[in-house]
Amino acid sequence: MSQNQRRRIGILTGGGDCPGLNAVIRAATKSAIYLGYEVVGFRKGYEGLADADVMELTLENTASILDEGGTILGSTNRGRFSAKVGHDESRKVAPELIQLVQKNVEELAIDGLICIGGDGSLSIAQQLFESGVPCVGVPKTIDNDLGCTAFTFGFDSAVACAANALDRLHTTAASHERLMVLEVMGRHAGWIALHAGLAGGGDVILIPEIDWNFENVCAKVLQRKQMGKLFTLVVVAEGAKLPGGGLVTLDPENKNRQTRLGGIGQIVADEIAARLATETRCVVLGHLQRGGQPTYFDRCLSTQYGAHAIRLIEERRFGEMVLYAPPEIGSIAISEAVKQLSKVDPNGAAVEAARAMAVSFGDTADYHNPFPQSQVESKTFAEQYNVPISALSTSTFEDFD
Ligand code: F6P
Repeated sequence: MSQNQRRRIGILTGGGDCPGLNAVIRAATKSAIYLGYEVVGFRKGYEGLADADVMELTLENTASILDEGGTILGSTNRGRFSAKVGHDESRKVAPELIQLVQKNVEELAIDGLICIGGDGSLSIAQQLFESGVPCVGVPKTIDNDLGCTAFTFGFDSAVACAANALDRLHTTAASHERLMVLEVMGRHAGWIALHAGLAGGGDVILIPEIDWNFENVCAKVLQRKQMGKLFTLVVVAEGAKLPGGGLVTLDPENKNRQTRLGGIGQIVADEIAARLATETRCVVLGHLQRGGQPTYFDRCLSTQYGAHAIRLIEERRFGEMVLYAPPEIGSIAISEAVKQLSKVDPNGAAVEAARAMAVSFGDTADYHNPFPQSQVESKTFAEQYNVPISALSTSTFEDFD
């Protein structure tokens, strides 16, 4: 390639949005332009790649987006591309879509394509790479459930949001001597619940990785009362399974998209209220965790990820994803990163620290349990509540991270 020949990089953001996407776009654009590249962004993720829907990214239009939530490129977590069916199965992207992408990448003279996304988006990137598209990956998701990296960007911002909510719930819970349940995101992994629970002083943390029951949760609440603590903060991940193994979903009938989780917080609040005759309230944090400004940690991480993605392209290390292995930023084959989701280790340091603080994960009645077994109801939750409960493994997944 001659010195004057312009080189071009493409960037896309796939899956659900999260704080820090714009910081990656800015960092990648700036470092690429300083190396002499042109940069274009594909709108709405892989859809824009298939439609050749591009916008030029410049020093001007990426200025001032470091702290902006969302993505200036837009994103989608459904549509024609979908590389995951459930969290442990993969699906092939249609060959005609791959051909369309190959054609567009060729015609637009893209030398390197940065795919910013979670497990699903990066599985698509891997398939494109295997078809000869020069992709590199950047790991994104508030859930922090992507393998091979200590942190995905967006996670810290979600934790900050959830911990802030706990701080606020703490004062009102104490004033009214109530039990407050905070339902946070986390489809397959309880990272947000665990870290927010630690940072915000949760008393009970319920996550997908640890089986729990109401007897143990109630025992913890009563133990606190015996200590004179008349309020309790419970954090529950949306993907935590109910005793008996069911997930709580909002739209189990919808076969055309990823099952929407939600509702477990209210069930937990109602059940504890019934068992302990205590006042409870539930707050579902929802998309507040995904919107708004990234934390400083996420801005810093995203900036390093964006700059390192350009380095991977410069070194023609296609098929690799940037990662954070504290204190270093490195890279690994995308195929490795998408092999297995990252889950909370029930024996890991964060859980151990929480247990040392007498936080209950609802899995043990280490606490004095005044309930005789005979008083404990054992109906299935599907019977007990008029809420849709389905097993994640049987649902059809069309959306992706
Ligand atoms: O994967 C990130 C995530 O925020 C999950 O925690 C949540 O279940 C899902 O996305 C929500 O997706 P949507 O915005 O499509 O409802």
